[in-house]
Amino acid sequence: MTHPDQNADATRALWGGRFSEPTDAFVQRFTASEAFDRRLATYDIQGSRAHADMLANVGVLTAQECSLIHQGLDQVMTEISEQRFDWRVAREDVHMNIEARLTEIIGDAGKKLHTGRSRNDQVATDLRLFMRAAIDSIKAELTRLQQGIVGLAAKNADTLMPGFTHLQVAQPVTFGHHLLAWHEMLNRDWERLQDCQSRLNYCPLGAAALAGTTFPIDRAMTAQALGFEGPTLNSLDAVSDRDFAIEFCAAAALLMTHLSRMSEELILWSSAQFDFVDIPDRFCTGSSIMPQKKNPDVPELVRGKTGRVNGHLVALLTLMKSQPLAYNKDNQEDKEPLFDCVDTVFDCLRAFADMIPALTPKKSAMRKAALKGFATATDLADYLVEKGLPFRDAHDVVGKAVGHCVSHECALEDMTLATLQTFSDHIGDDVFARLTLEGSVAARSHLGGTAPKQVSAAAAYAAQRLDQR
Ligand code: ARG
Repeated sequence: MTHPDQNADATRALWGGRFSEPTDAFVQRFTASEAFDRRLATYDIQGSRAHADMLANVGVLTAQECSLIHQGLDQVMTEISEQRFDWRVAREDVHMNIEARLTEIIGDAGKKLHTGRSRNDQVATDLRLFMRAAIDSIKAELTRLQQGIVGLAAKNADTLMPGFTHLQVAQPVTFGHHLLAWHEMLNRDWERLQDCQSRLNYCPLGAAALAGTTFPIDRAMTAQALGFEGPTLNSLDAVSDRDFAIEFCAAAALLMTHLSRMSEELILWSSAQFDFVDIPDRFCTGSSIMPQKKNPDVPELVRGKTGRVNGHLVALLTLMKSQPLAYNKDNQEDKEPLFDCVDTVFDCLRAFADMIPALTPKKSAMRKAALKGFATATDLADYLVEKGLPFRDAHDVVGKAVGHCVSHECALEDMTLATLQTFSDHIGDDVFARLTLEGSVAARSHLGGTAPKQVSAAAAYAAQRLDQR
């Protein structure tokens, strides 16, 4: 028995026939998703148009009904984009809000749109369309960031800085080389996003609630109309699969992890202790109490936001864990983490893409830092090997030479040839060229090495690859 007067909204009456009392007011709010899934509206309408065309094509709808549905959906879309659509919590979600409004506008033809379809295949389709577009924008922003990194690298192919291991000065590198390491990390992220996008690009429409439909649907037609690679191949899987959401969040978490590592370096480098780069004022904020402060807020926030993206990945994995086939209402919980992941990653990329090309490397401070930690000690060892010493012995000789420098507070290249020769008589005066920073980086001239020549070539290759995307 229905209670039309107690349950005023027509939509709840969709399943009202089975119910002997209206939904509890709190439960209605508790189970509703319209407040957040309205973000899927354009994709929902896109899916409905393709579904209606297909139904008309196979003779389930008349051409006139189909054209009415298109006209009605046009109006719904206009109302939504002009922000005058009357979203109702009583209509639960984006799908039923749109369908109910469509029916108000065009009458009975609106009620036929849901033939051979369920919200289960509908939401799965909407989400895939949304993710496909979201990944497109994220990839574009990622490419913009990479172009900025590669451009800065090309300009700094011979800018010297210390390379670190254990955050201790290890060997000299070029700033361009360091930046191209960032580029490599982000390249893998781009490929992961691309891979996720190609795997999600299949159309669940036609799976209906879980078992398919008795109507003579043409799944290839809807898949093609929506730009999918083809239809999904199992109806139970089609309505319950959220792998693509998890894959995206996993790719996003790794991307954020990379951005957090870059952030950490920028935070260190912009400190007075390092003083390697200047971050322009427009990307920084001051302190309300300490007038001298200029804080690297953008990298700090990006580093911090990595946590929420990691959290969303865990939320989605946990959401899907142990869910029996096929659709379960649990899945409604996929949207908020997914949307926040998309927004967070996009915003972080945008901030970085704007900031990176505006960084100013402080070349003399970088150079000075590279001179500090015996960064060319390995070069001295390599030199001794070339003169015939086994590497382990060379290592030992250089260790002693460094020990001498530490106690005399000097650098390797500050020693006289006579002093150097007390450590090994293999040392000649051709050693000094090898102990300079310039000599050290120039000597590492092979694919993937830090020599300015290699860095210039690597930056040119990277830029060319980015242009071809
Ligand atoms: N709002 C729902 C979701 O996000 C749509 C599908 C609901 N299906 C159902 N049978 N209750 O998952």
